[in-house]
Amino acid sequence: MKKSIIIANWKMQLSLKEAKVLAKEILDRLKKIKKKEKKLIDFDLVLCPPFISLLEVSKIFGPKKDILLCGAQDCFWEEKGGFTGEISPKSLKELGCTHVIIGHSERRKILKETDEMVHKKVKAALKTGLIPIICVGETRDQRDKGLKEQAIINQVSKALDGVSLKASQKIIIAYEPIWVIGSGWAIEPTEAGYMCKIIYQRIIDLYALPLVRNNIRLIYGGSVDSTTIKPFISQERIDGVLVGGASLKLKEFIKMCELILK
Ligand code: PGA
Repeated sequence: MKKSIIIANWKMQLSLKEAKVLAKEILDRLKKIKKKEKKLIDFDLVLCPPFISLLEVSKIFGPKKDILLCGAQDCFWEEKGGFTGEISPKSLKELGCTHVIIGHSERRKILKETDEMVHKKVKAALKTGLIPIICVGETRDQRDKGLKEQAIINQVSKALDGVSLKASQKIIIAYEPIWVIGSGWAIEPTEAGYMCKIIYQRIIDLYALPLVRNNIRLIYGGSVDSTTIKPFISQERIDGVLVGGASLKLKEFIKMCELILK
């Protein structure tokens, strides 16, 4: 069985000071749980704060990052050059990131990010040694028209087109139905499990089975909280969750972590 993963997407919700305080509180609470209750932090936990907080948050986690990992919410596809306002995967690595979210639906919708841009970013992230968290998801309209499977297969295929994967490289694909993000209500866990099965079937066409088993994880995102995390993680093809709103509330987020601790 693959190691579970919880990814916290803090979006543009916190100031530098707030991000530092929340990151430190989460780390302290997890350390206490680990020590007092002798629980094993046997899952990956990645916090993705806003760009401006990455360095400070990453410093809080320490050089070993044995409990918490640091991820960015986006990256550019070039390493260096005249790209005003952009941030390269290499710079993210220097800031202590191990993961980067790519193609979040908010970026696809508001900033008009295309599948082609997502594809370039995935390749750049992998080349730099970052783990891309590739977000895919259908709109309500696509779902209503019976096009949900097609929409997802398309996005996955385009993001990974011609992307070869070395044994040392890892990918996470986050299935996030666009219409439930930030809505406060998640879809049925079995439905998320079904959509992740569709993604799984596509990736076994693209990669050798050992790579799919060891290097690719599928997760669900969209209004996950402490009441739904377990049923989502229990689905056969769901290895973890991407959490927005609930990851900003300390008590709620720690509760979610506790629920999947051994
Ligand atoms: P949500 O956000 O948990 O607030 O729905 C998830 C996401 O945007 O990745």
